[in-house]
Amino acid sequence: MDMEGLQEKLVPAFEWFHRHPELGYAEFETTARIREILAGLGVEILDTGLETGLVARIGNAGIRSGKPVVALRGDIDGLPITEDSGLPYASETPGRMHACGHDFHTTAILGAAILLAEKKATLPGTVKLIFQPAEETAGGAAKVLATGALDDVREIYGLHVSPDLPPGQIGVSPGATFAAVGGFKITIRGKGGHAGYPHLTRDPIIALGQIIATAQSIVSRNANPFDPSVVSITHVEGGNTWNVIPPEAFIEGTIRSLGTEKYKCIAERLGEIVKGVELTSGTRIDYTWNMSSPAIDNDPALAVFVADTAQELGLAAGPSIPCMGGEDFSLYQQRIKGVFWNIGIGGAEGIHHPRFIAGPAPLSSAASLLARLAEKALVRLSST
Ligand code: NI
Repeated sequence: MDMEGLQEKLVPAFEWFHRHPELGYAEFETTARIREILAGLGVEILDTGLETGLVARIGNAGIRSGKPVVALRGDIDGLPITEDSGLPYASETPGRMHACGHDFHTTAILGAAILLAEKKATLPGTVKLIFQPAEETAGGAAKVLATGALDDVREIYGLHVSPDLPPGQIGVSPGATFAAVGGFKITIRGKGGHAGYPHLTRDPIIALGQIIATAQSIVSRNANPFDPSVVSITHVEGGNTWNVIPPEAFIEGTIRSLGTEKYKCIAERLGEIVKGVELTSGTRIDYTWNMSSPAIDNDPALAVFVADTAQELGLAAGPSIPCMGGEDFSLYQQRIKGVFWNIGIGGAEGIHHPRFIAGPAPLSSAASLLARLAEKALVRLSST
């Protein structure tokens, strides 16, 4: 199918997905629509037990044939945002919006399915197509992995739209392009009392202030200036009036770092700061942190493979623009070599904004690149 024909097929599907955004693990209509389109192409849907989202398979290799398997991943969920784009195909549901381009990703994977289904008989292996639920709530990738449907996959490719790149331009870089992301909670237990008699208290507010101020020294003094990281304190509680020192105070925030190990170092350093303040303030402090998704970790050789393949298709390719947001595609990369690349969509507003628009013009380019990557990866893997 030529690019124009493909684009004509994809735009109505994209507009349908855009009109019908659903939140993580509630993507029932979306999943039904994907099933319907795949069934029309004669593509096999695997029995994974996923309630929303699905994994499909194209290729003539049997599971035990020894022929390689690669995967393409798109995410399908929307966000709890009321759309204000003014598009004729805007969301039909108030408080629900495809504001992160997952409608674009879903359609691009379907476009790759159209192209790969045409070549089914000659593919030297199998391509698995992942329509992942619940990326925004960071549980979807783990759920797909837990089905075992990807156990035989040797390489994986995924995409994300980028408003920061010109429409159709491919952004791809080795290593971390999306951050390791997570949060921390700190509860300070002191001893409350009269604000005029601080010597009779263990003031949790002073401890809170010291932690906030010192936490900012981690990125500025402990992290390598060439390794981007962020510590943001976003929620503070303590006390409720002017003349009482409260018994307790609370701090919450987020850590982001373009590297999973660096993230852990920052989280541990914050723990040391908390310990120090605990000692000097005479309070008792509970500190917990988590990492909801590790950093994207693009295989360097495969990143070059993506850029070269894009150029073969006549697409402009440059580095990706690193992002302090998280992406649970990184969970697949902990098990399977792969690359998460960007495609430019232009647009005035960033992702997660009520006026965000993922222009559909580069859909056929995205689909062609996905299909070509899968095909070339199978050829390469079957000859090694
Ligand atoms: Ni997204």
